[in-house]
Amino acid sequence: MKSILVLHGPNLNLLGEREPDVYGRVTLAEIDRRLVELGQQLGLEVRCFQSNSEGALIDALHQARSWAQGVIFNPGGYTHTSVALRDAVAGIGLPVIEAHLSNVHAREEFRRISLIAPVCVGSIAGFGWRSYTLALRALADMLTG
Ligand code: DQA
Repeated sequence: MKSILVLHGPNLNLLGEREPDVYGRVTLAEIDRRLVELGQQLGLEVRCFQSNSEGALIDALHQARSWAQGVIFNPGGYTHTSVALRDAVAGIGLPVIEAHLSNVHAREEFRRISLIAPVCVGSIAGFGWRSYTLALRALADMLTG
């Protein structure tokens, strides 16, 4: 069975209570539960991890080389700032899909720049928690098609 890492960056542990008008009211635990369930339907093992620390996110990407076949990554605010995360994504040799709950292109100017997107196979933004499930369906299609 193929395995997928779902990686959530900073402040996403507060989903459900954090700016609900922007990010919705669904908690991170519930999003992860839905992803694991969808993964079962698609024949994929899904493992989820969240950290507020750039280094821990980089470590998780490095470790994924030994067990995952693809990654869904919401880098949160690091999307717009982190050369180190971009280098990690570029270096691990796995297909990574960037996912954002909000439509980053319709928000503040600084959110329109993603340092991560150019080293991903694609990006999905603006569908709330469904951005993650869309990304998982896309990865499943890529890995099995
Ligand atoms: C986000 C968008 C980022 O700009 C923001 O910093 C986040 C969440 C999203 O999922 O919409 O923390 O990645």
